[in-house]
Amino acid sequence: MIKTGILLVLGCFTVSVFSADPHYIGTDKCAKMCHKGEKKGRQYEIWQKSKHAGAFTTLANEKSREVATKMGIKGDPQKAPECLRCHVTAFGVKKELVDPTCTNEEGVGCEACHGPGSEYRKLNNMKSHDLAVAAGLWEPNEAVCVKCHNKESPTYKPFTFKEEVKKDAHLIPGKAAKK
Ligand code: HEC
Ligand code: HEC
Ligand code: HEC
Repeated sequence: MIKTGILLVLGCFTVSVFSADPHYIGTDKCAKMCHKGEKKGRQYEIWQKSKHAGAFTTLANEKSREVATKMGIKGDPQKAPECLRCHVTAFGVKKELVDPTCTNEEGVGCEACHGPGSEYRKLNNMKSHDLAVAAGLWEPNEAVCVKCHNKESPTYKPFTFKEEVKKDAHLIPGKAAKK
């Protein structure tokens, strides 16, 4: 709806900016070259060490098999939609909107919290936060987290946004958190 509004107001210009619905490009495309290193705030390095990066791998371990069996899930948890929906970046998204570079293997990647990146990654949109948001960047707030951190998780641990968000913090140096 919002998008239609923008299209009407700005006409052709917007068409050239939003070539299509944003699609998921995968963590490596966001961060392997750009969002890494001391000056940028080490987003890639911090994510790689986080539990999120291992979320798909977790589904292959003993505990996952036990959890799945208890829930009556037959077969491999790494192939079970009941598990994948919270353990990978873009579960349930239309195939056309997920590039082959965004794989289940990356676990819960950048775009699980920041939204599909194909449009906001463009240089002209990365110049400002507002432009990036207009191109699909999400505000990674509590609502984003609790899509997965909720009681439907078979191993649910109480989730307090204020505390949990500090754990893998990766702000750009010199910028203060918005919340
Ligand atoms: C797409 C689903 C998803 C989203 C969105 C998500 N998480 Fe997670 N999170 C997970 C999964 C799955 C794990 C467990 C990974 C594992 O242990 O293999 C996890 C683990 C964590 C952990 C580590 C907990 C521990 O036991 O050490 C923290 C901290 C965390 N998440 C914080 C957040 C915050 C803060 C947000 C929102 C800004 C968020 N998560 C958004 C799925 C998600
Ligand atoms: C679990 C959710 C989650 C994941 C995964 C995640 N982020 Fe973030 N990211 C956040 C949150 C929350 C903030 C802080 C937002 C704020 O307070 O302004 C943030 C902030 C940022 C910022 C700073 C924005 C600013 O204005 O200072 C950048 C850049 C960023 N993330 C890039 C990345 C990249 C690149 C990846 C993947 C390597 C990634 N993030 C993975 C949740 C996440
Ligand atoms: C609603 C989202 C959601 C679903 C569905 C989900 N998980 Fe998770 N899972 C999480 C989150 C969030 C965490 C980290 C915090 C927690 O345990 O609540 C996690 C953590 C885990 C852990 C690590 C827990 C630990 O204490 O070491 C295992 C193992 C796991 N999940 C297996 C599974 C399996 C197997 C399935 C499918 C049967 C599944 N999960 C379905 C969200 C989910």
